[in-house]
Amino acid sequence: MAEPTRTAKLTIDDKVIDLPIKSGTIGPDVLDIRKLYAEADVFTYDPGFTSTAACESTITYIDGDKGELLYRGYPIEQLADQSHYLEVCYLLLHGELPSGAQMRDFETRITRHTMLHEQIHYFVRGFRRDSHPMATMVGVVGAMSAFYHDSLDITDPWHREVASIRMIAKLPTIAAMAYKYSVGQPFIYPKNSLDYAANFLHMCFAVPSEEYVVDPRLAKAMDRIMMLHADHEQNASTSTVRLAGSSGANPFACIAAGIACLWGPAHGGANQACLEMLREIGTVDRIPEYIRRAKDHDDPFRLMGFGHRVYKNFDPRAKVMKESADEVLGLMGIENNPTLQVAKELERIALEDDYFISKKLYPNVDFYSGIILDAMGFPTSMFTPIFALSRTVGWISQWKEMIGDPTQKIGRPRQLYTGAAMRDYVDVHHR
Ligand code: CMC
Repeated sequence: MAEPTRTAKLTIDDKVIDLPIKSGTIGPDVLDIRKLYAEADVFTYDPGFTSTAACESTITYIDGDKGELLYRGYPIEQLADQSHYLEVCYLLLHGELPSGAQMRDFETRITRHTMLHEQIHYFVRGFRRDSHPMATMVGVVGAMSAFYHDSLDITDPWHREVASIRMIAKLPTIAAMAYKYSVGQPFIYPKNSLDYAANFLHMCFAVPSEEYVVDPRLAKAMDRIMMLHADHEQNASTSTVRLAGSSGANPFACIAAGIACLWGPAHGGANQACLEMLREIGTVDRIPEYIRRAKDHDDPFRLMGFGHRVYKNFDPRAKVMKESADEVLGLMGIENNPTLQVAKELERIALEDDYFISKKLYPNVDFYSGIILDAMGFPTSMFTPIFALSRTVGWISQWKEMIGDPTQKIGRPRQLYTGAAMRDYVDVHHR
């Protein structure tokens, strides 16, 4: 980043403070307020970080007004059309697209790490049978710190590298295991002759008693879902990973923290919540009632799969996902499925409604991803785990970037204290 040449002036009472203005490659400039507290004895106040850049990053860029998403400069639409998930992983992790040899080497390394330590199977079996797969994933990924002692030293670049490869390779195995356990089926070991997405489908849907051949068209759709979810700059779960990592916590603990944050319905949990909402609506004639509820400030109900903190025009991932949804449903011969009819009609009505137009609420990626995953045969409880395994590479890339950034410190927000001022303790008999 170039040295700032402009400054903003902040006047507090009769004191003027100069704040350097920094510029990135593209996107809004930032006011550097790092010295503000020392010079002016004030904090900035920004709950939800709506106007705060917490770090410098070269990984992902979003222009919410244009509906633009770039991974290392490449538009998501081009990547979704011409690339594949593991190539996108390489790009996010290393900053450039790989040569043929680099890609083969990366694929081989990921493939060789897909199996889990056998003892992890027993760990998974310790969960209640009806555990949500996200609960299992948070636990198992955190527990990887107890199994892979040779990749915990965050100051060692080789440890960081091995931990990264392990997580990208093993997250699909863990997610599939969590699923198999929840439905009472035996775990299916990874099959390294399959590509990343096909292997995941195989681990989820194969059973030992029957031959299961992965439909390459479904594997392609799964690969696309993974690419579209691979990174999304400083969202809640990524910021959680960075914050956890800023204390020096080990990489498995940091990614487990990210998975826990992703689970919430305002974030990655929205794909499950959205499909459940579509099912609850059930029929097209009930949509107006739900639209009415979504607009009612006294009703906590929100249209799941609509709205985004950053995208105020359209979500470019949703556009690509919608095309995939049409393809997959056509392939499965279920274009007339009632949930899909509700989804299409809800989308049409919401896009024409003044409330949604004025608040810039458009369908987001989660609106369509659940429809595709449902058509593929996944239960709703697996939607967020699939988001988590796809986002793992983004979390790791951001974590690695943070570790290598000399300006990063332990994350420590301040507060506006509104509690009681200092007062004297009163003995229980005198209260
Ligand atoms: N349905 C109805 N009203 C909504 C919705 C919605 N889905 N989303 C926002 N609003 C209204 C909200 O009530 C508020 O109205 P007002 O200004 O009158 O108080 C206004 O729009 C702004 O909402 P906000 O909560 O201040 O916006 P935010 O940027 O903090 O929240 C969001 C963004 C994604 C959390 C929110 O739109 C939401 O809860 N959407 C539903 C959940 C969802 O689909 N989440 C997935 C996000 S994309 C995947 C991911 O990145 O994880």
